[in-house]
Amino acid sequence: MRIIDRIAALRSALAEPRRRGQAVALVPTMGYLHEGHLQLADEARRHAAVVVMSVFVNPMQFGPHEDYTRYPRDLEGDAMKAERRGVDVLFAPPVEEMYAGDRTVVVTPLSLADRWEGAARPGHFTGVLTIVSKLFNIVQPTVAVFGQKDIQQATLIRSLTRELDFGVRIVVAPTVRERDGLAMSSRNAYLSNEERKRALVLYRTLRGIADAFDGGQYDAVELEQLGWEILATEPEVQVDYLAIVDPTRLEPVAVAEQGTIVAIAARAGTTRLIDNVILGGT
Ligand code: PAF
Repeated sequence: MRIIDRIAALRSALAEPRRRGQAVALVPTMGYLHEGHLQLADEARRHAAVVVMSVFVNPMQFGPHEDYTRYPRDLEGDAMKAERRGVDVLFAPPVEEMYAGDRTVVVTPLSLADRWEGAARPGHFTGVLTIVSKLFNIVQPTVAVFGQKDIQQATLIRSLTRELDFGVRIVVAPTVRERDGLAMSSRNAYLSNEERKRALVLYRTLRGIADAFDGGQYDAVELEQLGWEILATEPEVQVDYLAIVDPTRLEPVAVAEQGTIVAIAARAGTTRLIDNVILGGT
């Protein structure tokens, strides 16, 4: 595996495979890799001969009071895990390489970004879409793989790619969970044992709603009510939203159907966690 930290060096490393007509897959990450990220690399391998994983903690997608400086980082550990998992190129640029000089252009999404994560984290998706656009232009992948856990991000990236004609195929891979159901996330490292136990209520809630749907309950108000009842069993967990929404606009639905998304965001202690399930699926 090659570790590259400069844009020009990455472009020249990819010139030869591109000349040979080999497909290139990109797995964008912010590092501190866990099994969830590594399964994105596995998925990428199913679509391309060359797998590039980026590791970049993107300052633009963090709000002023968020965890940019304390976000966990471990480039050495990441390199070992990525190499063992068969990643071909690890692209880990420093901030100055990605954001050189004054910033005069960003990629800002429209209304889809105003709700849920966008409402809780103003400017977050501008940061995400700007860095993802840059990575797409730098790597020029055939396919890019993102995790379902960040469902609104994945939805916006699909729109970005379609509406700005990036010509990159977007694959969204299922959320990888710990044995007890907690969705894998680099931010789980912040949780104390007690908070981690409490955080399991997120998946219990999603599962409860999904099971009720599988059992024939389609009324979204009833499903949401059931969700709030489960959430009430862990009063220490501060819920930001519980949303039952359609998969393209992420707007609340009255009647749930196959493919409807149930998304949740909540704080366990000071750690903000998100998770979701797709009804009738994962
Ligand atoms: O999902 C993430 O880790 C980040 O938002 C991404 C897509 C790597 C952009 O910084």
